[in-house]
Amino acid sequence: MCMSNNHQPKSKRFLMEKSSIWTLNATPGKRVYGEQLKRFSGQEFRRWDPYRSKIAAALLRTKQEPENLLPRPGSNVLYLGAGHGTTISHIHDIVCGSKNHSKGRIVGVDISPRCIRDLLLLVEKRPGFIPILADARKNDWQNAMLQRADWLFQDVSQTGQLDIFLETCGNHLKSDAKALFSFKMASERWTDEAIANQLETMKARIEHSNFVCEEVLDLQGYEDEHFLFVIRSIG
Ligand SMILES: C[S@@+](CC[C@H](N)C(=O)[O-])C[C@H]1O[C@@H](n2cnc3c(N)ncnc32)[C@H](O)[C@@H]1O
Repeated sequence: MCMSNNHQPKSKRFLMEKSSIWTLNATPGKRVYGEQLKRFSGQEFRRWDPYRSKIAAALLRTKQEPENLLPRPGSNVLYLGAGHGTTISHIHDIVCGSKNHSKGRIVGVDISPRCIRDLLLLVEKRPGFIPILADARKNDWQNAMLQRADWLFQDVSQTGQLDIFLETCGNHLKSDAKALFSFKMASERWTDEAIANQLETMKARIEHSNFVCEEVLDLQGYEDEHFLFVIRSIG
């Protein structure tokens, strides 16, 4: 196995082998979306597909230690736009592990009943994961947040994305904690200069709201017209 020293997993639940990303399977023998399974040092890992997950793409694009973008085992996580479970299942591998022996907690909100139906199929085998059918813009899911989140991800691809993100971070993110924000450009007709200006304006808004914008990653090639903001709340 060729594994870059820089990418040695602190949690041993995440590893990078050249440009392949893997998480330790919390449900050995089971796939979530048809992903490859492989054993490393006697343990089964699931391949995390950067063409199907913006976080996986960001892990390949970041200039930071990739693991710095991820939550730690045992974290309290809030995930808005949980979809059908592709990315959140890898987050669960890391945060909860098999039978949730790390005692992590992942609240996954999605507005689509179809998505929630798929997510409910994951729940039985993945304790610690709590899917909620709700609109991220409203208040009805917020009681599920028993305490502030150690890590937050938003991927809702809809108008007002940044407003939702800033309000949610303000209400639910701990201080000195990481949040990732997937941003979809609204128009295909932006010039490079207009895109750069828009991203700068967004960065300024984020920093005005008392967060540090550590990186803005262009996911072009993996997920076109998408950028991923890496944010830290001020301690
Ligand atoms: C791009 S998909 C998410 C993919 C998922 N994050 C993944 O990587 O596996 C966007 C999701 O956001 C959900 N969504 C859109 N608007 C929402 C809202 N206002 N509140 C909650 N979920 C929303 C959609 O139903 C959809 O499942």
